[in-house]
Amino acid sequence: QQVLLEGLRGQLPVVPTDPRKIQGKAKQVMPKNGYDYITGAAGEEATKEANRLAFRQWRIVPRVLTPTTPRNLSVTLFGHRYGAPAIMAPIGDQSLYHPDKEVGTAIACANLSVPFTLSTAASTGIEELVAKAPRGPKWFQLYWPFNEELLASILNRAHASGYQVLVVTLDGWAGGWRPSDLDTANAPNFLGQGNEVGFQDPVFRKMFAEESEGGTPENDTIAASVSWITKVISGTSQDWSHLRILRKHWKGPIVLKGILSVQDARMAVRYGMDGIVVSNHGGRQMDGGVATLDVLPEIVDAVGKRTTVLFDSGLRTGADVFKALALGAKAVLVGRPVVYGLGINGTAGALAAFAGILADLDITMGFAGAKRVSDLTRDRLRRIPYSV
Ligand code: FNR
Repeated sequence: QQVLLEGLRGQLPVVPTDPRKIQGKAKQVMPKNGYDYITGAAGEEATKEANRLAFRQWRIVPRVLTPTTPRNLSVTLFGHRYGAPAIMAPIGDQSLYHPDKEVGTAIACANLSVPFTLSTAASTGIEELVAKAPRGPKWFQLYWPFNEELLASILNRAHASGYQVLVVTLDGWAGGWRPSDLDTANAPNFLGQGNEVGFQDPVFRKMFAEESEGGTPENDTIAASVSWITKVISGTSQDWSHLRILRKHWKGPIVLKGILSVQDARMAVRYGMDGIVVSNHGGRQMDGGVATLDVLPEIVDAVGKRTTVLFDSGLRTGADVFKALALGAKAVLVGRPVVYGLGINGTAGALAAFAGILADLDITMGFAGAKRVSDLTRDRLRRIPYSV
């Protein structure tokens, strides 16, 4: 962690370290449609707020006279060793935030030895990302096309390009009711930009050519975007039995993202899934839903010994990460804060934002008397049912 802190010292000026200020700075410097899109959430944003409040209900019990140097933040997930218990959450169309886009975020992750997750809705293609950011572990997030030929093409490309883990997002089968996008007609602004995974796919190109009498995505980006989005946002057509189709086309680990109920967590185990992400998509999909931290302990109790439980939504500080790990998550996905960093200062900003959260985690572990991630157990926390 010394390395992390040394690296961070050189990066500190590029983004504010206070989680409220980094958002404020992003608002000042990012394109308005990008800022609105990244901060937006469903409905009156009650679930997004609840994600934050839930962290406030848990407090860490400090320890003293317990030497913790050197501390070790590394973890093993699905047979791969990573530098910290954190993963970059899949976030679509990062060209909305900075020209460095997914390439910049992936380079930042490589510098921290944490996985970068490429979204199906990315503005950088599957092979293109690996060519431009060859270092560092990569995971691939799937919005699940019902057409099996298209599914197989995408998964084969991701596998051939060395992506280690498949994250299947299950709460994205429709766009959430997001006033910040609906009222400003924001969504159409990015039609045509955030679809490189599809636009570069040979099966999608063939399908689009058939639909458009010989057209290419480059010639008609709007029509191609609509066609792509319609294919990967498949409504409620899939059910649990269709997971076998994923298994047929993906031989590596599969993680289901968007699990919030014990029943669904048990189903994921029953269907042989390697992991789950307890996530509500940062409150962007369904408002009025439970905060992720509120359901994490019951899900860990039910399935934590039989599958790898990951966690996201609302993490902003090292203490937040500590709490999620102590409540049983094996690692967390960090989303908006890294994108604020990207928006403020490109690759260096994404690195500073992510490194800052990990350095904060490192210090918090030290104050709590923990030397390694496996030391983070539930007895280190107290639940205090009021918020400050
Ligand atoms: C997302 N998220 C997301 N998830 C996914 O599986 N595929 C995607 O393409 C996207 N795109 C996306 C865009 C934006 C602008 C946001 C904010 C989020 C959800 C993401 O992976 C993660 O679950 C949330 O970001 C977690 O919430 P916080 O911690 O960022 O508030």
